[in-house]
Amino acid sequence: MRLNKYIAQAGICSRRKADELTEAGKVKINGAVCRQLGYDVQDGDVVVVNGQTIGKPEKHVYYMLNKPVGYITTNDDEKGRPTATSLLTDVTARVFPVGRLDANTSGLLILTNDGEFANAVAHPSHRIEKTYIAVVNDHVSNDALWDLRNGVDIGGYKTRPAVVNMIANESHAAKLEIIISEGKNRQVRRMFEAVGLKVLQLERVAEGRLQLGRLKPGSYRKLSPAEVEYLKGESK
Ligand code: URA
Repeated sequence: MRLNKYIAQAGICSRRKADELTEAGKVKINGAVCRQLGYDVQDGDVVVVNGQTIGKPEKHVYYMLNKPVGYITTNDDEKGRPTATSLLTDVTARVFPVGRLDANTSGLLILTNDGEFANAVAHPSHRIEKTYIAVVNDHVSNDALWDLRNGVDIGGYKTRPAVVNMIANESHAAKLEIIISEGKNRQVRRMFEAVGLKVLQLERVAEGRLQLGRLKPGSYRKLSPAEVEYLKGESK
């Protein structure tokens, strides 16, 4: 199997990143640095990336987690907060989150050990719609709703049109469903900030047709083969 595919399938990183690491001399095969991008890994080869020995590519696994608030989607954190990955207590495969979810956002998070799948699904060009339920700190005016739907400036970037449905609009708070097809950092919070509102609670409830459903915070389940195929199809 081609070296970059072997490394990606082991869940270490994407194929492109594997090529970069190989060119940078960070990959050793059977004890010697290998800079050959097209190297064909043979049975019995010992591949070491950045000092970490990788075994045979793991069987791919795919999970959906209802991430509670307070858990981070990166691997380590200077504040010592727990990782979303640590919640998958009976999963032995080395899974990692597909894309980001802020520590103070809860809801649907996909985890996998399939680097190719993760890159494809998280890639901004694929525009899988993400649905959020947001609670904000004030009444939402019609002007603000119009702006959120048609695009707002979040620090020099105008957001693409979004679907925004009002669930409850009270005098000093509101609850809305917002569906976006792009994933800038803290996008939903920044969109509301752009119209003078603060997000108090944010939950991701769907990615494309994949629904969080009744999964409880902190619980997780395997994606069905049909769900995995659907996400692969959406990210081509
Ligand atoms: N938008 C946000 O502001 N935060 C998230 O975690 C996801 C989308």
